[in-house]
Amino acid sequence: MEKTPACQGQNKTPSLSAAIRAFNHYMVDTLDQVRPVAGRTVLDLGASPYGFALERALELGVSEYVGVSLDAPEHLPVSNCTGPSGRLLRMDATRLDFPDDRFDLALSMAAFEHFLDGRRVLAEMHRVLKPGGSALVTFDRIWTSARGHHLHHIEPVAELIPPWAYLLLSEGSMRGLLTPRGSGELPMSVDEVLHWIYHSGEINRVDIREFREMFASLSLRPSGWCRLRRKPLEQPVNWQSMLHCTCRTRQKIF
Ligand SMILES: C[S@@+](CC[C@H](N)C(=O)[O-])C[C@H]1O[C@@H](n2cnc3c(N)ncnc32)[C@H](O)[C@@H]1O
Repeated sequence: MEKTPACQGQNKTPSLSAAIRAFNHYMVDTLDQVRPVAGRTVLDLGASPYGFALERALELGVSEYVGVSLDAPEHLPVSNCTGPSGRLLRMDATRLDFPDDRFDLALSMAAFEHFLDGRRVLAEMHRVLKPGGSALVTFDRIWTSARGHHLHHIEPVAELIPPWAYLLLSEGSMRGLLTPRGSGELPMSVDEVLHWIYHSGEINRVDIREFREMFASLSLRPSGWCRLRRKPLEQPVNWQSMLHCTCRTRQKIF
Protein backbone atom coordinates (compact mmCIF):
# COMPACT_ATOMS: atom_id res chain seq x y z
CA MET A 1 0.00 0.00 0.00
CA GLU A 2 1.18 3.50 -0.81
CA LYS A 3 1.88 5.40 2.38
CA THR A 4 1.23 8.97 3.37
CA PRO A 5 4.12 11.38 3.80
CA ALA A 6 2.78 11.80 7.32
CA CYS A 7 3.16 8.12 8.08
CA GLN A 8 6.00 7.00 5.89
CA GLY A 9 8.63 5.84 8.35
CA GLN A 10 11.63 6.04 6.08
CA ASN A 11 10.87 9.64 5.11
CA LYS A 12 10.54 10.85 8.66
CA THR A 13 13.25 13.00 10.09
CA PRO A 14 13.83 12.63 13.83
CA SER A 15 12.29 16.07 14.36
CA LEU A 16 9.15 15.17 12.39
CA SER A 17 8.83 11.92 14.26
CA ALA A 18 9.19 13.79 17.56
CA ALA A 19 6.58 16.32 16.44
CA ILE A 20 4.09 13.58 15.53
CA ARG A 21 4.74 11.86 18.83
CA ALA A 22 4.17 15.14 20.69
CA PHE A 23 0.96 15.68 18.71
CA ASN A 24 -0.29 12.21 19.66
CA HIS A 25 0.49 12.81 23.34
CA TYR A 26 -1.17 16.21 23.22
CA MET A 27 -4.34 14.78 21.71
CA VAL A 28 -4.57 11.94 24.21
CA ASP A 29 -4.11 14.55 26.95
CA THR A 30 -6.88 16.60 25.32
CA LEU A 31 -9.22 13.61 25.28
CA ASP A 32 -8.36 13.09 28.93
CA GLN A 33 -9.38 16.67 29.69
CA VAL A 34 -12.68 16.30 27.84
CA ARG A 35 -13.39 12.82 29.17
CA PRO A 36 -10.99 11.33 31.76
CA VAL A 37 -9.50 8.17 30.31
CA ALA A 38 -8.34 6.46 33.51
CA GLY A 39 -10.02 3.09 33.87
CA ARG A 40 -11.73 3.42 30.46
CA THR A 41 -11.47 1.41 27.27
CA VAL A 42 -10.26 3.52 24.33
CA LEU A 43 -10.38 2.78 20.61
CA ASP A 44 -8.07 4.81 18.32
CA LEU A 45 -9.14 4.77 14.65
CA GLY A 46 -6.32 5.31 12.19
CA ALA A 47 -3.83 4.97 15.02
CA SER A 48 -0.14 5.73 14.93
CA PRO A 49 1.57 2.46 13.98
CA TYR A 50 4.45 3.56 16.20
CA GLY A 51 2.35 3.41 19.36
CA PHE A 52 2.65 7.14 20.09
CA ALA A 53 -0.92 7.42 21.39
CA LEU A 54 -0.78 4.01 22.98
CA GLU A 55 2.14 4.92 25.22
CA ARG A 56 0.45 8.09 26.48
CA ALA A 57 -2.91 6.33 27.01
CA LEU A 58 -1.21 3.70 29.18
CA GLU A 59 0.59 6.42 31.16
CA LEU A 60 -2.79 8.01 31.86
CA GLY A 61 -4.18 4.75 33.20
CA VAL A 62 -6.63 3.52 30.56
CA SER A 63 -7.90 0.04 31.29
CA GLU A 64 -7.40 -0.81 27.62
CA TYR A 65 -6.17 0.98 24.52
CA VAL A 66 -6.75 -0.52 21.08
CA GLY A 67 -5.34 1.26 18.05
CA VAL A 68 -6.43 0.15 14.58
CA SER A 69 -4.58 1.14 11.46
CA LEU A 70 -3.84 -0.19 8.00
CA ASP A 71 -0.18 0.47 8.75
CA ALA A 72 -0.01 -1.30 12.09
CA PRO A 73 2.35 -4.18 12.45
CA GLU A 74 0.11 -7.23 12.45
CA HIS A 75 -1.56 -7.44 15.87
CA LEU A 76 1.05 -6.07 18.22
CA PRO A 77 0.24 -6.54 21.89
CA VAL A 78 1.83 -4.01 24.24
CA SER A 79 1.18 -3.72 27.92
CA ASN A 80 2.63 -2.13 30.97
CA CYS A 81 3.37 -4.04 34.12
CA THR A 82 0.59 -2.56 36.21
CA GLY A 83 -2.26 -4.21 34.32
CA PRO A 84 -3.69 -1.94 31.64
CA SER A 85 -3.21 -3.28 28.15
CA GLY A 86 -2.58 -1.75 24.78
CA ARG A 87 -2.80 -3.29 21.36
CA LEU A 88 -2.10 -2.13 17.84
CA LEU A 89 -4.13 -4.04 15.29
CA ARG A 90 -3.94 -4.02 11.53
CA MET A 91 -7.62 -3.56 10.85
CA ASP A 92 -9.79 -1.61 8.44
CA ALA A 93 -11.77 1.00 10.38
CA THR A 94 -14.68 0.53 7.96
CA ARG A 95 -15.02 -3.06 9.16
CA LEU A 96 -14.20 -3.20 12.84
CA ASP A 97 -13.90 -6.67 14.24
CA PHE A 98 -15.48 -5.73 17.57
CA PRO A 99 -18.95 -6.30 19.01
CA ASP A 100 -21.42 -3.45 19.51
CA ASP A 101 -20.98 -1.29 22.63
CA ARG A 102 -17.41 -2.43 23.21
CA PHE A 103 -15.55 0.83 24.06
CA ASP A 104 -16.05 3.74 26.45
CA LEU A 105 -14.16 6.26 24.33
CA ALA A 106 -13.06 6.66 20.74
CA LEU A 107 -10.26 8.76 19.36
CA SER A 108 -9.20 9.53 15.83
CA MET A 109 -6.32 11.85 15.05
CA ALA A 110 -5.29 13.14 11.65
CA ALA A 111 -6.99 10.21 9.96
CA PHE A 112 -10.40 11.38 8.73
CA GLU A 113 -8.77 13.25 5.86
CA HIS A 114 -7.32 9.86 4.84
CA PHE A 115 -10.28 7.52 5.33
CA LEU A 116 -11.75 6.89 1.89
CA ASP A 117 -15.13 6.03 3.38
CA GLY A 118 -15.43 8.33 6.38
CA ARG A 119 -19.17 7.72 6.69
CA ARG A 120 -18.59 4.02 7.15
CA VAL A 121 -15.85 4.67 9.73
CA LEU A 122 -18.20 6.96 11.64
CA ALA A 123 -20.93 4.34 11.58
CA GLU A 124 -18.50 1.73 12.87
CA MET A 125 -17.15 4.08 15.52
CA HIS A 126 -20.67 4.69 16.70
CA ARG A 127 -21.57 1.00 16.69
CA VAL A 128 -18.68 -0.03 18.93
CA LEU A 129 -19.04 2.90 21.35
CA LYS A 130 -21.09 2.22 24.45
CA PRO A 131 -24.20 4.32 24.98
CA GLY A 132 -22.93 7.40 26.75
CA GLY A 133 -19.50 6.95 25.24
CA SER A 134 -17.63 9.85 23.69
CA ALA A 135 -15.46 10.38 20.67
CA LEU A 136 -12.79 12.96 19.95
CA VAL A 137 -11.98 13.40 16.28
CA THR A 138 -9.26 15.69 14.99
CA PHE A 139 -8.31 16.48 11.46
CA ASP A 140 -5.05 17.44 9.88
CA ARG A 141 -5.23 19.53 6.68
CA ILE A 142 -8.37 18.60 4.81
CA TRP A 143 -8.56 18.95 1.03
CA THR A 144 -10.06 22.45 1.02
CA SER A 145 -7.54 23.99 3.41
CA ALA A 146 -4.63 26.10 2.18
CA ARG A 147 -2.28 23.13 2.22
CA GLY A 148 -4.89 20.45 1.72
CA HIS A 149 -2.54 18.72 -0.71
CA HIS A 150 -1.17 17.24 2.49
CA LEU A 151 2.46 17.68 1.55
CA HIS A 152 2.99 20.05 4.45
CA HIS A 153 5.41 17.62 6.08
CA ILE A 154 7.73 18.06 3.10
CA GLU A 155 8.45 21.75 3.42
CA PRO A 156 10.67 22.25 0.33
CA VAL A 157 7.83 20.88 -1.79
CA ALA A 158 5.00 22.57 0.09
CA GLU A 159 6.59 26.00 -0.24
CA LEU A 160 6.54 25.72 -4.03
CA ILE A 161 2.75 25.39 -4.04
CA PRO A 162 0.86 28.63 -3.37
CA PRO A 163 -2.05 28.28 -0.93
CA TRP A 164 -5.04 26.54 -2.49
CA ALA A 165 -3.33 26.51 -5.92
CA TYR A 166 -3.91 22.79 -6.35
CA LEU A 167 -7.67 23.46 -6.16
CA LEU A 168 -7.50 26.01 -8.96
CA LEU A 169 -4.87 24.63 -11.30
CA SER A 170 -5.15 21.68 -13.63
CA GLU A 171 -2.48 19.04 -13.35
CA GLY A 172 -0.82 20.43 -16.46
CA SER A 173 -0.76 23.96 -15.09
CA MET A 174 0.65 22.70 -11.81
CA ARG A 175 3.38 20.90 -13.72
CA GLY A 176 4.20 24.17 -15.45
CA LEU A 177 4.39 25.91 -12.08
CA LEU A 178 6.60 23.30 -10.44
CA THR A 179 8.91 22.20 -13.24
CA PRO A 180 11.21 25.23 -13.44
CA ARG A 181 11.62 25.32 -9.67
CA GLY A 182 11.21 21.71 -8.71
CA SER A 183 13.88 19.91 -10.64
CA GLY A 184 16.99 18.74 -8.93
CA GLU A 185 17.21 18.90 -5.19
CA LEU A 186 13.66 18.24 -4.03
CA PRO A 187 12.92 15.12 -1.97
CA MET A 188 10.14 14.25 -4.47
CA SER A 189 10.13 14.48 -8.23
CA VAL A 190 7.56 16.69 -9.97
CA ASP A 191 5.85 13.51 -11.23
CA GLU A 192 5.60 12.18 -7.67
CA VAL A 193 4.19 15.49 -6.42
CA LEU A 194 1.59 15.57 -9.18
CA HIS A 195 0.64 11.95 -8.59
CA TRP A 196 0.26 12.58 -4.87
CA ILE A 197 -1.89 15.67 -5.27
CA TYR A 198 -4.13 14.59 -8.13
CA HIS A 199 -4.27 10.79 -7.99
CA SER A 200 -3.10 9.35 -4.68
CA GLY A 201 -5.63 7.23 -2.84
CA GLU A 202 -4.12 8.23 0.48
CA ILE A 203 -6.05 11.48 0.92
CA ASN A 204 -9.79 11.58 0.40
CA ARG A 205 -10.30 15.10 -1.04
CA VAL A 206 -13.41 15.58 1.09
CA ASP A 207 -14.25 19.24 1.58
CA ILE A 208 -15.47 20.99 4.70
CA ARG A 209 -19.12 20.98 3.63
CA GLU A 210 -19.07 17.25 3.06
CA PHE A 211 -17.37 16.66 6.42
CA ARG A 212 -19.99 18.71 8.21
CA GLU A 213 -22.76 16.92 6.39
CA MET A 214 -21.13 13.56 7.10
CA PHE A 215 -21.05 14.22 10.82
CA ALA A 216 -24.54 15.72 10.84
CA SER A 217 -26.05 12.73 9.06
CA LEU A 218 -25.86 9.18 10.32
CA SER A 219 -27.60 10.38 13.48
CA LEU A 220 -24.36 11.84 14.80
CA ARG A 221 -24.78 14.88 16.96
CA PRO A 222 -21.50 16.66 17.52
CA SER A 223 -21.20 18.50 20.79
CA GLY A 224 -18.76 20.98 19.35
CA TRP A 225 -16.20 21.93 16.75
CA CYS A 226 -13.26 23.96 17.79
CA ARG A 227 -10.07 25.14 16.27
CA LEU A 228 -7.03 23.41 17.51
CA ARG A 229 -3.80 25.24 17.98
CA ARG A 230 -0.72 23.16 17.50
CA LYS A 231 1.41 25.09 19.96
CA PRO A 232 3.29 22.05 21.21
CA LEU A 233 4.56 21.39 17.71
CA GLU A 234 5.59 24.97 17.04
CA GLN A 235 4.05 24.69 13.61
CA PRO A 236 1.99 27.39 11.95
CA VAL A 237 -1.71 27.00 12.59
CA ASN A 238 -3.52 25.87 9.50
CA TRP A 239 -7.01 24.49 9.12
CA GLN A 240 -7.21 22.14 12.00
CA SER A 241 -10.24 21.19 13.86
CA MET A 242 -11.46 18.81 16.41
CA LEU A 243 -14.85 17.58 17.18
CA HIS A 244 -16.17 15.78 20.17
CA CYS A 245 -19.35 13.83 20.22
CA THR A 246 -21.24 12.01 22.91
CA CYS A 247 -23.17 8.84 22.31
CA ARG A 248 -26.23 9.53 24.40
CA THR A 249 -28.60 6.70 23.66
CA ARG A 250 -28.80 3.30 22.10
CA GLN A 251 -30.64 4.92 19.21
CA LYS A 252 -27.31 5.92 17.80
CA ILE A 253 -27.42 9.60 18.61
CA PHE A 254 -24.19 11.32 19.46
C1 LIG B 1 -1.71 10.46 8.89
S1 LIG B 1 -1.78 8.88 9.63
C2 LIG B 1 -2.24 9.35 11.31
C3 LIG B 1 -1.71 8.34 12.30
C4 LIG B 1 -1.91 8.73 13.77
N1 LIG B 1 -3.31 8.90 14.13
C5 LIG B 1 -1.14 9.98 14.12
O1 LIG B 1 -1.77 11.02 14.38
O2 LIG B 1 0.10 9.91 14.15
C6 LIG B 1 -3.32 8.19 9.02
C7 LIG B 1 -3.55 6.77 9.46
O3 LIG B 1 -4.85 6.36 9.03
C8 LIG B 1 -4.74 4.98 8.71
N2 LIG B 1 -5.87 4.59 7.86
C9 LIG B 1 -6.24 5.08 6.66
N3 LIG B 1 -7.34 4.45 6.21
C10 LIG B 1 -7.67 3.54 7.16
C11 LIG B 1 -8.69 2.58 7.30
N4 LIG B 1 -9.63 2.40 6.35
N5 LIG B 1 -8.71 1.82 8.42
C12 LIG B 1 -7.78 1.96 9.37
N6 LIG B 1 -6.78 2.86 9.31
C13 LIG B 1 -6.73 3.63 8.22
C14 LIG B 1 -3.41 4.83 8.04
O4 LIG B 1 -3.00 3.48 8.06
C15 LIG B 1 -2.56 5.75 8.91
O5 LIG B 1 -2.00 5.03 9.97
